[in-house]
Amino acid sequence: MSTDPAFEIARRRTFAIISHPDAGKTTLTERLLRAGGAIQLAGNVRAKGERRRTRSDWMGIERERGISVVTSVMTFEYGDCVFNLLDTPGHEDFSEDTYRTLTAVDAAVMVIDAAKGIEARTRKLFEICRLRDIPILTFINKMDRESQDPFALLDEVSSSLALDTAPVTWPVGRAADFVGTYDLRKRAYHLTGELAQSDPRLVAVAEEVDLVRAALPEFDIEAFAAGHLTPVFFGSAIRDIGVADLLDGLVEYGPKPRAQPADTRVVEATESGLTALVFKIQANMDPNHRDRIAFARVCSGRLVRGMRLKQVRTGKLIPLHAPQFFFARDRALAEEAFAGDVVGIPNHGTLRIGDTLSEIEDLNFVGVPYFAPEILRRVRLDDAMKAKKLRQALQELAEEGVVQLFRPQDGSPPMVGVVGTLQLDVLQARLAGEYGVAIGFETTPFQLARWVFGEKATLDRFVSDQRSAMADDVDGDPVFLATSAFMMRRTAELNHGLAFRDIKDFR
Ligand code: G4P
Repeated sequence: MSTDPAFEIARRRTFAIISHPDAGKTTLTERLLRAGGAIQLAGNVRAKGERRRTRSDWMGIERERGISVVTSVMTFEYGDCVFNLLDTPGHEDFSEDTYRTLTAVDAAVMVIDAAKGIEARTRKLFEICRLRDIPILTFINKMDRESQDPFALLDEVSSSLALDTAPVTWPVGRAADFVGTYDLRKRAYHLTGELAQSDPRLVAVAEEVDLVRAALPEFDIEAFAAGHLTPVFFGSAIRDIGVADLLDGLVEYGPKPRAQPADTRVVEATESGLTALVFKIQANMDPNHRDRIAFARVCSGRLVRGMRLKQVRTGKLIPLHAPQFFFARDRALAEEAFAGDVVGIPNHGTLRIGDTLSEIEDLNFVGVPYFAPEILRRVRLDDAMKAKKLRQALQELAEEGVVQLFRPQDGSPPMVGVVGTLQLDVLQARLAGEYGVAIGFETTPFQLARWVFGEKATLDRFVSDQRSAMADDVDGDPVFLATSAFMMRRTAELNHGLAFRDIKDFR
C-alpha cells in the first residue's frame, strides 16, 4: 500500500449523515458499512434488542432508551477511498454534539424520507452545514414505499432550502414496484433483477429522464463544492437500492479533506506539518477499560504512531502511544493516519474539546462552538461530604461536553446548562455510575446565559458590579446570567462597551 501523503489525503472522504429521526440514518449507516465490508450483519437491521442499534450506540443509557447519544466515527474502505463516517446523535437534546461533529467533516449526506420530504430537524442541520459551507449530497430514502413524486421532492428541496438539485440517479418504479435506479450521468441502469424492455417502468423512466434533463441543472462539481447545489440519489436503504450509487458519488466527487481555518492562517490539508483538532471527548466507551478518548480530526500532514504533538493551549507535549481507528465493531491501533482521518487518542483528561495538536507551528483552529444553553439548573448535592468529588466530576464531564458548567462567582452551588433535558438525565446517571455522586436538580431564577467579552478594565468593572449574576464557565471565562430576556437586553444596552454573546468558540 502506498503511503504517499498526497495520494492518501486525496482518497479520504470524511462525512456525516444528517436527517430527521426515522428517515433511515441508522439503516443507511449499516448499509454503507456493509458495502465497505466493515460489518457482516445480515439484512435484519431492525433486529430487536441488543442488535437493534448500530455499534455507534455505546452507552447504557442509550440502549435503555433506544436513542443515540454519543458521536462516534466509523472507518471503512470502498472503491479506492477511505471513508470516515462520523455518526451524530439522533436526538435533538444532543444537538451540540452534532454541531461540533459537523466542524470535523468535509461533506454531509442529507437523508430524506420520500413520503415526508424535508422535516424540521433536517432543515436545522442543513442550516448548520450551510453556515459552515459543507457540501451536501441528498439521499431520498424509502422509495420502496408510497412516496411523493420525485419531481415534487426535488422541488421541495430546492424551494425550501434554497439549494439547487441535480439528480444523479432516477428511481425505476415506485413503492412496491421500485426495482432500482437509472444513472443519469453514466446512462446505466442498476436494477435488482431483469426487466423486459417494454416494462412500463423503463418506459416511464425514459420519459421522465427527458423532463429531468430539460428542467433541472446538470451536476456541477464547483456549485456542489460551494454548497449551492446538491446531487440527489434515490433509493431504499432497507432494500439496499441506491446505496452503491451514493458511495460511488462520494468516491467520484465527494470532497477531499478541506483547508481548516486557524487563528493565524488557513491550514491546507496537504501541508506536511501535522495538525489535528479535538472535536469530541468520550469517556468509558469500553466499560472494561475506564478510558477517555479524545476524537481528533487530522487537519494536515501525516500522523505516525509514537510521535509527540504539542497541545497548543498548554504547550505540553502529548505522546501518541496508542492512537486508534474505529471500525463498526472494533478499534485498532492507528500506525499512521492522514489529513481527513479521525483518530481516537486515549488520555486521562489532558485533552479538551477545541484543542489543537500541532507538530511544528503554534496555531489554534477556530470554529468549534459552545452554544448558550437553553435550560439552566442548579445542582443539588445529596451528600455534602462529596462536594469536592462533585466539583472534579462536573469539570470533567463539562470538558467532555456532556453539559455546560457555570460556577457562580458568589460561591453558591454550581449550575449546569443544557440544550435538552435528556442531557440532565445523562449527567445524573454518569455522576452516579462513574463517580458515585448522587445529585438532583433545582430550578434557578436565571433564564439566560451569555458570554461577556470586552476590554479588560471595562469587563473587570462589570464583573465586580454584577457579582451575584456572574459565573465562570468551564474555561474560567465570564458568563452573565439574566433572569429574563428583557433584563439581558437592558444590561447589554447599559453596557455597550461589552459584547454579550450566545456562542463561544473553543480555544
Ligand atoms: P433513523 O436512524 O433515521 O432514526 O432511522 P432508522 O434507520 O432507524 O429507520 C427508521 C424506520 O424506517 C425503521 O423502521 C426502518 O426499518 C425503516 N426504514 C429505513 N430505511 C427504509 C427504507 O428504505 N424503506 C422502508 N420501507 N423502511 C425503511 P421501524 O419500523 O421504526 O423499525 P423496526 O421496527 O423495523 O425495527
